[in-house]
Formats: sequence, structure tokens, C-alpha cells
Amino acid sequence: MVDLQDYGLNQECLYEVLACTISKKDEIKYPNTASMGIRVLDDKSIKIKPYHNTQTHKNIIEYGRVSLNFIDDVALFAQASLKEIKGDFSGIPIEDYLYYNYHYRGEGYNIPYLKQAWMVLFCNVVKETQIVKQDNFGNIDLTEFELEIIHSTKERESFKLYNRAENLALECIILATRLKIAKKKNDNMLYLKIETKIKDYIEMITKFGRNSSVLRALNIVKDYIKLL
Ligand SMILES: Cc1cc2nc3c(=O)[nH]c(=O)nc-3n(C[C@H](O)[C@H](O)[C@H](O)COP(=O)(O)O)c2cc1C
Repeated sequence: MVDLQDYGLNQECLYEVLACTISKKDEIKYPNTASMGIRVLDDKSIKIKPYHNTQTHKNIIEYGRVSLNFIDDVALFAQASLKEIKGDFSGIPIEDYLYYNYHYRGEGYNIPYLKQAWMVLFCNVVKETQIVKQDNFGNIDLTEFELEIIHSTKERESFKLYNRAENLALECIILATRLKIAKKKNDNMLYLKIETKIKDYIEMITKFGRNSSVLRALNIVKDYIKLL
């Protein structure tokens, strides 16, 4: 049994991961990835809260399984979350996926995960709770899934140090996903507010130095905004 503290994950702490699930369209299954926040509850369990409008939510409801991928490269968060508009935004390419196969009660299952992950937790849903969250957009529906870990891999240690540029780049990616919602809702005031924040963060990031992963993430954010 996995003890999350052995993996350096602490109780009641929040972590940002890439969540991989299986999508199904016209009977064809393919992998999907999105950036998601997780909260570690105790030594063995974790919570994830996808909004109802995400593919991740739909897929977890359908299959009850998800892999949580711990990633060093912030550009992958941008690639995973800023997608499905136009042009080149198709998410994580198919060649970046690997599969964990397991058997449960006579059935075989595949869970996709990412080859770039330094650690992966493969999870089953054990409980789900419906939540309505209040934010700038009004009421937003989400489901809080409680997960148990059925398997884990740790390819290597991550010696990542705290980095202000990467943290701000992550904020820019989250804000870009919200910009899309503001656009959809024709909320011009909110759109401008979020856009100004992104511009401020980008200006700050450029002062913190030149990290190629951050620059790639910012280019994805800028291209995404141009196409909104
Ligand atoms: C660092 C980060 C954390 C995020 N956390 C969440 C989250 O906890 N829940 C959620 O619904 N969306 C979250 N998002 C936004 C989703 O990643 C984004 O809406 C994505 O496009 C959903 O993809 P999907 O439709 O394939 O699931 C986060 C984005 C970033 C960049």
C-alpha cells in the first residue's frame, strides 16, 4: 500500500498535477490530459475537483479512474490545459502517453499516463460529492472525487526548487482558462481584468530570468489568447 508521505506528499497540502483519463467519442477511446489541483487528505487518499464543464469530469464519472502525473516542465501544463479552440491546440500528443494495465474482478483496464512524469499515482474513485462554488462567474458546479491509490511509479526524484517565474507561469495558464470562460459569457469587464493580470504577470516573469520551459509556456498562453 502506498504511503503518500514516502512520496514527499504532505497531508492537507495542495499540489498541481496533470490528470490523465480516457475519453470516448464515437466508440473510439483516446487519452485526455488536463492540469488539476489535488489535495492530500491523509497517508492514503487524495481529492480532486474537476468542474462539470471539463472533459476530465466526464471521463472520471464514466470510468472512475485517473492517473495523477507529477511534472517538472511547466510548458506541459499549458499544453494540457489550453486546447480545443482553433489552430494547433490539440493538447498532449499521443506519443507522450504510456499505459498502466491492471486487472480487477476479471476485467482488464488501461490507465493512460505521461512519459514525462517523474511520479505517477494511479487512482480509483471511492466517493464523490457535488459542490457548488461561488466565484467571479457566479455559481460553478464541480464534483469532489475522493481517490484511493491503486498503483504508483516513481521514475526519479524531482529536485525542483521553488521558482517564482514558474509559479507565475502556472497562474497565467489558469488565468488563460478563465479568460476563455469570460469570453464565452461575453463578460468584457472580467475579460479585461484577467487579461491585465496576465500581462502584469508576464512582465514580472520576464524580470525573473529566462527559463526555456517558462518561455514555452508563455508562448502557448500568448498564442491561445490571440485565438480566443
Ligand atoms: C495549474 C492548474 C490547475 C487547475 N486546476 C483545476 C481544477 O482543480 N479543477 C478544474 O476543473 N480545472 C482546473 N484547471 C483548469 C483545467 O485544466 C482546464 O479547464 C482544462 O482545459 C480542462 O481540460 P479537460 O476539459 O480536458 O478536462 C487548472 C488549470 C491549471 C493550469
